[in-house]
Amino acid sequence: MAIERTLSMIKPDAVAAGNAGNILQHFEDNGLRIVACKKTQLSLAQAQAFYAVHAERPFYGELVEFMTEGPIFAQVLEGENAVAAHRAVMGATNPAEADEGTIRKLYAESIGRNACHGSDSLENAANEIAFFFSESELIG
Ligand code: CMP
Repeated sequence: MAIERTLSMIKPDAVAAGNAGNILQHFEDNGLRIVACKKTQLSLAQAQAFYAVHAERPFYGELVEFMTEGPIFAQVLEGENAVAAHRAVMGATNPAEADEGTIRKLYAESIGRNACHGSDSLENAANEIAFFFSESELIG
């Protein structure tokens, strides 16, 4: 299996609730190594740019407002098939549909306030990693 890197975000709802540490532990418990991690707060312009692919969706305004309401953690995770493995650990986008034991089942309130984000492809992972981190910040 291929070793991949993916971009992971712990969203403002989960950070505010004090669940960031539990979620980072969840990644490590599931074979995803943390090769970079930072706590930051997105500006409106940054949130709009990060989610530009969703700009035409009806929930875009709500999404960018939520993503700027408080600090987030951004991390780069590395492991076997990391893009898919991370998405499996997160669970379905809508927590009502997420499997037991997944991060969203444990910590998310709703499809909008859903605790975490993960890249959906290797190509997007590369772009999303570069959005937050320089090459020298990735500590293998
Ligand atoms: P995320 O994985 O960060 O990618 C895009 C986000 O849009 C998604 O998680 C959800 O938080 C959000 N989203 C998707 N569908 C809806 C929806 N119907 N209503 C509100 N937010 C949504």
